[in-house]
Amino acid sequence: MSEFIRIEDLKVHYPIRSGFFNRITDYVYAVDGVSLSFEEGKTYGLVGESGSGKSTIGKSIIGLEKITSGNIYYQGQEVSKEARNRRSEYRRNVQMIFQDSLSSFNPKKRIGDILAEPLRNFTNFTPDEEKKKINELLSIVGLSEEAVNKFPHEFSGGQRQRIGVARAVAINPKLIIADEPVSALDLSVQAQVLNFMKRIQAEYNTSFLFISHDLGVVRHMCDELAIMYRGRFTEYGTREDIYSNPQHIYTKRLLSAIPQVDPNNRDQNKLVRLKVEKDYQQNSAKYYSETGRVYDLVPISPTHKVAIKDQVLPELHKAVEGAE
Ligand SMILES: Nc1ncnc2c1ncn2[C@@H]1O[C@H](COP(=O)(O)OP(=O)(O)O)[C@@H](O)[C@H]1O
Ligand SMILES: [Mg+2]
Repeated sequence: MSEFIRIEDLKVHYPIRSGFFNRITDYVYAVDGVSLSFEEGKTYGLVGESGSGKSTIGKSIIGLEKITSGNIYYQGQEVSKEARNRRSEYRRNVQMIFQDSLSSFNPKKRIGDILAEPLRNFTNFTPDEEKKKINELLSIVGLSEEAVNKFPHEFSGGQRQRIGVARAVAINPKLIIADEPVSALDLSVQAQVLNFMKRIQAEYNTSFLFISHDLGVVRHMCDELAIMYRGRFTEYGTREDIYSNPQHIYTKRLLSAIPQVDPNNRDQNKLVRLKVEKDYQQNSAKYYSETGRVYDLVPISPTHKVAIKDQVLPELHKAVEGAE
């Protein structure tokens, strides 16, 4: 198997401080026990509403967030805290694209220097090699060589995200974490940026972890998806499992919230949404503990896992068999 990164039982709890002495009074359970593994050349989706812990997972993987507990393995070896933070082989192979590139790029740096940064950190390129590579990167994302001397604010949002893609891909990482990379863009521009990512994947066999709050956006990108709610996974499966055979009421709710383009189906969709919402209100006890916590994932097929109370499992198996 070509699994190269495995995240095991990751927890990130942020302390909440209050009072005169600024003592820790509670914790935000931003990520509360999730496991994920990545194989080469695949695209993974991480989808959930705002505040569910998606960015925290991404930042933990690239070492920008302090992990409360859990482990990360790279090529079977545990990645130490130090290796997550410094210029290690691991960090070379895991890069991130952020939602808002205007704030993730240094506004005083020219694009040439922004793209050169990973090359200078991780390679020993001569100035000529560096220049050649930067031009190649610009052409991969459809920008001309003149971009080199410009500043981030001189580009449109879509162009800047493409520069973010170019920077992430510069040192040919195995995994690119793309945190809502197109959420701030118009629909037509979104498609364009996504297409560049697909092209890069086809060329370099890069894996992507695609973070989004919208199941509609990632539909055509992802081989496998994790659905996230309050720091936990409610469901994990292939694209087929999630979009054609969703089992957790939260997944169903997210699916019914995808905006519909076709006006002919609007009434029908409204009915579906109402039904899903009713189901959500009536059956939430099967899917969440008394404290509102999402249950542990249980496999219901070789590819599909659902977070559900054990007693409900036989019922679910029947439903899944019936659907096949
Ligand atoms: N540095 C922080 N300190 C305290 N709470 C945080 C911090 N960063 C994120 N959180 C909280 O953790 C939860 C998950 O945040 P985040 O991972 O950004 O969610 P998402 O990316 O899904 O919108 C949210 O409740 C957020 O308010
Ligand atoms: Mg986020």
